[in-house]
Amino acid sequence: MAAGTIGAAVALIKRALARAFSRTEKVFEYAFGQRNNPFVSLGALGWYFYWIVAASGVYLYIFFDTGITDAYASVEYMTHDQWYAAGLMRSLHRYASDALVVVVVLHLLREFAHDRMRGRHFFAWLTGVPLLAFIYICGISGYWLVWDQLAQYIALATTEWLDTLPVFGEPIANNFLNNTTLGGRFFTLMVFIHIFGPLFMLLLMWVHIQRHSGARVNPPKSLAIGTLAMMVALSFAYPAVSQGPADLDMVPTSVGLDWYYLAAYPLLDVIPGGQLWLYIFGCFVLFSLLPWLPPEKPAPPALVNLDNCNGCARCFDDCPFGALAMVPRTDGHTYDLEPIVNPANCTSCGICAGSCPTSTPFRRAGPIQPGIELPDRTIGALRDELVAEHRSDGPHILVFGCETSNVSELRQHGAHVIELPCVGMLPPSFVDFALARRHADGVMIAGCAEGDCFHRLGNEWTMARMAGERDPYLRRRVDKRRLSLNWLPRDAARRRHKAFEEFRTALTEIDDA
Ligand code: HEM
Ligand code: SF4
Ligand code: SF4
Repeated sequence: MAAGTIGAAVALIKRALARAFSRTEKVFEYAFGQRNNPFVSLGALGWYFYWIVAASGVYLYIFFDTGITDAYASVEYMTHDQWYAAGLMRSLHRYASDALVVVVVLHLLREFAHDRMRGRHFFAWLTGVPLLAFIYICGISGYWLVWDQLAQYIALATTEWLDTLPVFGEPIANNFLNNTTLGGRFFTLMVFIHIFGPLFMLLLMWVHIQRHSGARVNPPKSLAIGTLAMMVALSFAYPAVSQGPADLDMVPTSVGLDWYYLAAYPLLDVIPGGQLWLYIFGCFVLFSLLPWLPPEKPAPPALVNLDNCNGCARCFDDCPFGALAMVPRTDGHTYDLEPIVNPANCTSCGICAGSCPTSTPFRRAGPIQPGIELPDRTIGALRDELVAEHRSDGPHILVFGCETSNVSELRQHGAHVIELPCVGMLPPSFVDFALARRHADGVMIAGCAEGDCFHRLGNEWTMARMAGERDPYLRRRVDKRRLSLNWLPRDAARRRHKAFEEFRTALTEIDDA
């Protein structure tokens, strides 16, 4: 009962978030174009900001004095005397760290809203949760190193907060009571955490994308250059500065907080530290469980049929989730290799079936059974759907669309819609077959927006296959005027309908000519 209520609440939040993203992204898409829309590159931007933080951090370390007595002065030297280089690096270090928080929070909310964390997608989510903790540990330890009044506030608040945990023998906040009790021990520990924390974080970021073949870790070039230029301009206009030297004999009356990293600290004034730990721990547990709230019944993974496999490895090359491996042949065939499926990684996207050269509807003898396909969404059944009788006024348009979009709405406008787990499951020979055998006057492929495929690479591979740039190619004889490719956000029903009507008009004109 409780699980059901939480599941319903999660679904409600998901829908509201998806709507909010959709509206906001429309504006960004208008301003930046589909490919450069930052919302479709949030994970890649996370990597990008990480590298900016790391590179600027290495530069700062050259001039930074790691002893507590001289740290402040060394940061002041960088900020004021070397404002054009180390000062710029300091500002970039801060602004890229803040930007990292923003893009990672948006990234996780977006993955959540689009449901890309359930079933066999859970791995990235589960490895993402500790990444959040690492980002905060690295950020907070960084503010500590400046040893200004903000650092003093953080040092005292953090150690008092840590003292509410039954871990330390004697209160660690005692280190920061006044200038005489101040020791360099904790400061050295912070320097250590601030250097090794980001290295562990990098390792975790690498683990995070292990189930993604060819993960997108670089944003589009123009987006990367534009973002960096904006941050450099911001760094010169509003350079990062310190807030007066720390002095433990005085209590800082007011400090300016970086709300991206330090938002939890003011809460300590109203919530007891122990209780705040419990809330944060509870949020982390709830967050980790989200992929199973409610649990998803996964579709069966892809199945290999060795009788029809020649070991060409196209399925292996195209699988977006690293679910396939090519291993030595086990059936005594003359081919060297065969694919094997790792069911734990397979998201049942069907893209491998679209890449297999044996997935062709032109075969006549016996039922179609390609080298690899989804057992509950076979290529034979796809052919049956294609040849099924369909009536429409005007040109007969066959639409292949993704189940994750609302492409089915085109049915009410007379389209013969076939939904697939991903358009990447469509072998190009089906387009040829539909047109050559007059099962359709035109074929429309309606997939996710560029760079934003639910199954990561399905739209990219389809574009390349249809353009004759990736195996299996669409045959040259196909009249391209009768093929319409549409890459739109999943809920862009009106724009998809408009594209459909334009295609219908174009087909009518071709037939009338
Ligand atoms: C430093 C922080 C992070 C970075 C740099 C990062 C980066 C990335 C990248 C590059 C991808 C692959 C994009 C692609 O090629 O399709 C990805 C996917 C993903 N990330 Fe993150 N991420 C971060 C944190 C998080 C967090 C905190 C969460 C959630 C708790 C999360 C959840 C996901 C999910 C659900 C996916 C997609 C999984 C799928 O499609 O199967 N990430 N991330
Ligand atoms: S169905 Fe998708 S994830 Fe599974 S093996 Fe095929 S391409 Fe890979
Ligand atoms: S694409 Fe088809 S024929 Fe080639 S290795 Fe994969 S299953 Fe075998």
